[in-house]
Amino acid sequence: MTALTISRHGGTAVLTLDLPGEPVNKLNAAVKADFETALAELRGDAMVRALVIISGKPDTFIAGADIEEFTRLSTQEEFTRLSREGQEMLQRLDDFPKPVVCAIHGACLGGGFELALACDWRIATDHPKTQLGLPEVQLGLLPGAGGCQRLPLLIGLSAALGIIMPGKTESGSKAFRLGMVDELVPKSILLDTALKAADRLAGLVGAELQLRPLPARPPKTGLMGAIFDRTRPGRRFVYWKARKDTLAKTGGHYPAPLAALEAVRAGLEQGGPAGYAVEHRLFGELAATDVSRKLIGIFFATTALKKDDGLPPGVTAKPRAIERLGVIGSGFMGAGIAGTAVSSAGVDVRLKDTELSRIGKGLKAATDILSGRLKRRRITRFEFERLAALLSGGTDSASFARADLVIEAVFEDLEVKRAVLAETEAVTRPETIFATNTSTIPIAEIAAQASRPDRVLGMHFFSPVDRMPLLEIIPTGKTSPETIATAVHFGRRMGKTVIVVRDHPGFWVNRILMPYLNEAGYALAEGVPMEVLDRVMTRFGFPVGPVTLLDEVGLDVGAKAAGVMHAAFGDRLKPSPLIGRMLEDKRFGRKNGRGFYLYPKGKKAGPDETVYDLLGVRPLAPADTTIIEQRLVYSMLNEAAMAADEGVVRSPRDGDVGAIFGIGYPPFRGGPLRYIDDLGAAKVVEVLRDLERRHGSRFTPAPSLVGRAEQTVRFYP
Ligand code: 3HC
Repeated sequence: MTALTISRHGGTAVLTLDLPGEPVNKLNAAVKADFETALAELRGDAMVRALVIISGKPDTFIAGADIEEFTRLSTQEEFTRLSREGQEMLQRLDDFPKPVVCAIHGACLGGGFELALACDWRIATDHPKTQLGLPEVQLGLLPGAGGCQRLPLLIGLSAALGIIMPGKTESGSKAFRLGMVDELVPKSILLDTALKAADRLAGLVGAELQLRPLPARPPKTGLMGAIFDRTRPGRRFVYWKARKDTLAKTGGHYPAPLAALEAVRAGLEQGGPAGYAVEHRLFGELAATDVSRKLIGIFFATTALKKDDGLPPGVTAKPRAIERLGVIGSGFMGAGIAGTAVSSAGVDVRLKDTELSRIGKGLKAATDILSGRLKRRRITRFEFERLAALLSGGTDSASFARADLVIEAVFEDLEVKRAVLAETEAVTRPETIFATNTSTIPIAEIAAQASRPDRVLGMHFFSPVDRMPLLEIIPTGKTSPETIATAVHFGRRMGKTVIVVRDHPGFWVNRILMPYLNEAGYALAEGVPMEVLDRVMTRFGFPVGPVTLLDEVGLDVGAKAAGVMHAAFGDRLKPSPLIGRMLEDKRFGRKNGRGFYLYPKGKKAGPDETVYDLLGVRPLAPADTTIIEQRLVYSMLNEAAMAADEGVVRSPRDGDVGAIFGIGYPPFRGGPLRYIDDLGAAKVVEVLRDLERRHGSRFTPAPSLVGRAEQTVRFYP
């Protein structure tokens, strides 16, 4: 055996899994073979009365089936077999004639949690690194090693669907409350507790073991829960509702959650064998879909980004430690950066603004981010108090003297930003990094008069900062490698997926978003109803449509960015006159309750029909919306191809991850550059030429795209 070692503790055999040469444990062919060998050896060993399974890795129990192995399989039959063999192996563990205790610290996900479910007793640590769950649907799959069968039996149908269908993971304490684990302990006593549980269970035999003592706190489903989960009509309602809610969320683009529902249903309604058969059949079907391949591609892309220091090939630099952060500007962005930095990176944050009343509001907003985490039980009351104490504020820059990094999030005005930079450089240490959070102004212009330009770069956060996963980092030609590596590293500590992009107007995300939003403006000004535009794009797979997005971002903010982009790129990015008219009418979007949509009591309602009067058009839904979809999507594809070929992103991977995490580009399409490859550059050029004939030169295909079409060159070789 290479991954499993067996040690004896009295009558208990402890199986320690530590996959050599890998950062995490995963269930690959070798590990499965080791488990089979160990079980065969221990089954007949009279000296062994119980087993404990534990991990030798510092922070993972088992991260699931080996996703890399999936990339080596191609047919539905191969995947079905993989799932069936996984089920069979875990069934042998489940049937093992001696009690098996699972001692869980760190990530216990997918197949790893399915293995835990096949054990007789589960003990998890209360450590923040401990996460348990079934994230398979996030990869376009379903739990294919018995998870759809065992979890509902353990914690009840509704609670199980709440984990399986969205592909959720839970902390140790939540898992304990839900009944997913039987005991919750501090890491230091995990093994001792497991050995005691093994001893206790070893005293039970045969049927007694099957009827083992109930978990200390059985799942609380209440009377309604019992009615829904334990009666046939109740369960029928649960299935119907789960299906309806999922379709509303996914728009039918993701088959995995519904397939998982079918596997759960088959098991509960037709019995175990039928459930397992449906589970491995559907696992095979899902794994062979393009959607799953795309989602797995995104998993590997984001994993690779976690290790990328953002430096050009051949350049290396060590990131500096960031312990003290200064944030200038206590508005929505500044407060969001401060709150996220404290809650995710645990650094000392000093918030600066010109007036104390504004600082008070900013500190409150930053603390609200911590309160949200406390409410969702992501942190304890003690951690909340400790982290909240790290937040302070003032009007004085002198307090930045000890800051390692200062991020400014002041008004989008070049002179103001330059002044803030000069003022900061005057009071900070030579090694302090200055980052500007701008979405439109070139960083090199802000840094033009800097006395330490090697320490200046852009950190473009997205709003709301605590929820948006992406961070664009923008070095100038003078930014030092150490500064880049430090900002990338710190962005990651803030929980962000970081891409390093070129200092070019709009950077990456706003660059590709702008033509898309402009096109929505043109279509609206022609009388295409706003809800039709939104529906067409949510049907394509975006989480919200472009008109709703404009209302959310704010029309004033959008107009400013559109102006900068128009100036930089000329008529291709000329905004439609619509936004100007909306602003004249003081329509700023959701923030002042006056936008394209109505916001009675702050909640979005239907379209505001008076917008059409303002634009002087009569709304008329087109009979065929294909061309609308093409106009919006292809304007983005064209710009993405152009920007990628200008080197705005360092790789197609960064471009696609940026589009997915920055603007919600549909993950199942893999990102705009992947989508161009799938369609074929020639097809994209053909559609763009057609749109150019109908709607003008803003659709002229990018020369580089035409070149790709002629030479059949892909973004992903
Ligand atoms: N298979 C293969 N490789 C995996 C893996 C898995 N299940 N989980 C993690 N890895 C690899 C990563 O690719 C990365 O490899 P690299 O160093 O060579 O690039 C390495 O492990 C470290 O991963 P991270 O950088 O992501 O480390 P973190 O500490 O940030 O996160 C984690 C660890 C929480 C375990 C995260 O990696 C994760 O979420 N993994 C995926 C979990 C998952 O989706 N499991 C379900 C798999 S499908 C399944 O089990 C099917 C079954 O039902 C039959």
